[in-house]
Amino acid sequence: MKIAILGTGAVGQRLGHLLAPLAYSVGFGSRNPTAKAPELAGDFIGSYHEAAVWADVAVLAVPWAGESGRNAQDIVHPLAGPLAGKILIDATNPLQPDWSPAPLDASQSAAEELTRWLPHTRVVKAFNTVFADVMTPALLDRGFAHPPTAFLCGDDPAAKETVSQLAQALGFDPVDAGALVNARYLEGMAHLNIQLAVAMQGGTRAAFRYMRAR
Ligand SMILES: NC(=O)c1ccc[n+]([C@@H]2O[C@H](COP(=O)([O-])OP(=O)(O)OC[C@H]3O[C@@H](n4cnc5c(N)ncnc54)[C@H](OP(=O)(O)O)[C@@H]3O)[C@@H](O)[C@H]2O)c1
Repeated sequence: MKIAILGTGAVGQRLGHLLAPLAYSVGFGSRNPTAKAPELAGDFIGSYHEAAVWADVAVLAVPWAGESGRNAQDIVHPLAGPLAGKILIDATNPLQPDWSPAPLDASQSAAEELTRWLPHTRVVKAFNTVFADVMTPALLDRGFAHPPTAFLCGDDPAAKETVSQLAQALGFDPVDAGALVNARYLEGMAHLNIQLAVAMQGGTRAAFRYMRAR
């Protein structure tokens, strides 16, 4: 399976490192693939469009708003063709550059907004509740008493199963959080995560764990 990570920042690079030793082909999409290539170890690097064409599964790991306020929309809208029928893992959080919640146009979550621009793509929200600093072999192997939870949600059961298997292979405990509409709650969790880490000074080497009683 070819997984293209769109965006080569903290989340993109950390996920790339986690995926590299596993049985997946890993590629990257970047605004400037030539400049970014030396710092990335992958099977493919190209523009966002080239990466979306190459991929079986894509991961969106770019700032939601950016300075323009519509960064994700500008990146994703031209990918509707190459991503048709494919899985897009939405790891974004709708934040403004100062990390405050970004206003959404017509939906109540970024993930639902994506489905407006990518109507034929199987969007699964995942990894947005996990800090990039947790996405390391050291922390996932030994940093916690139990694997951190990777909450995911979406409307396509087969796509969710694929993402669930991927999350497990990366070292997370996947938890199916239901339909894509529940991305509203997962994005709320991410805002809470940021409050705990930054405003409350808990730091980003911390993660949610969902536990069911025996
Ligand atoms: N950091 C975390 O702990 C964390 C955890 C969970 C979810 N998230 C979410 O995941 C997404 C990526 O977060 P991140 O921390 O990886 O961000 P980041 O370190 O700032 O990197 C984002 C990447 O997106 C690309 N990009 C595309 N448009 C951009 C723009 N206008 N300005 C800057 N970069 C742009 C860049 O890659 P190219 O230059 O190669 O195009 C950049 O390296 C965000 O939506 C964030 O809210 C972050």
